[in-house]
Amino acid sequence: MEKEKMIYEGKAKKVYSTNDADKVIVEYKDDATAFDGEKKGQITEKGRLNAKISTILFELLEDNGIPTHLIEKINETDVLVKKLDIILVEVVMRNVAAGSLAKRLGLEEGTRLNKPVLEFYYKDDDLGDPMINRYHVYAEELATKKQLDQISKLAFKINDILVEFLADKGIDLIDFKLEFGTDNKGKIYLGDEISPDTCRFWDTKTQKKLDKDRFRRDLGEVEGAYHEIVRRLEK
Ligand code: TMP
Repeated sequence: MEKEKMIYEGKAKKVYSTNDADKVIVEYKDDATAFDGEKKGQITEKGRLNAKISTILFELLEDNGIPTHLIEKINETDVLVKKLDIILVEVVMRNVAAGSLAKRLGLEEGTRLNKPVLEFYYKDDDLGDPMINRYHVYAEELATKKQLDQISKLAFKINDILVEFLADKGIDLIDFKLEFGTDNKGKIYLGDEISPDTCRFWDTKTQKKLDKDRFRRDLGEVEGAYHEIVRRLEK
């Protein structure tokens, strides 16, 4: 399938229409941003690496009964996916306190949570993606109760699948962000990506960060971390 017209450009991806109205091509870019686009940079080969990582993880989820937008990877940076109407509620799942949760609850980064924590954020760049709860979602009609229940159930199941798979690769899944959308019949699918841009991956033994926090916090060895994740997933 060929790209027709670019219909959307985000911070890390471009989306193209195809000759099938129900399918789009997602192109992963090397661009990296943090703090709502305030910090900008490039991570060499990130597009190729994230396309690969995300495809491996989406295939794993499909194989485990999660409906996802993935159709097929068509080249190094481009993936053919089902066209979805993205639900403007980002779901963050956390197993270990880090980032904004560590700050908010005054926990040391690395503190294991007794239960996985699910959070909702309003997908709105101008507002800086504020955290919201289900009542905000209903009040703003971002999703129905039925959709939110379904998304939450999927998010916990996705967490279980990913934690187990990654543990076997020597990777602790600290937290991650998911986006869901609906097709033209209203069926819910997992969309967007799952990659070191959207997850915290820590080496199980050393607790070294192998994700975008290396870019956000200027820790160095950014490219090396993305390469290391690919190496381990391909093992
Ligand atoms: P946080 O600790 O900054 O709230 O991030 C939680 C998780 O969500 C982390 O794995 C990174 C991911 N994330 C995104 O994918 N996009 C974002 O814009 C932010 C802020 C976090």
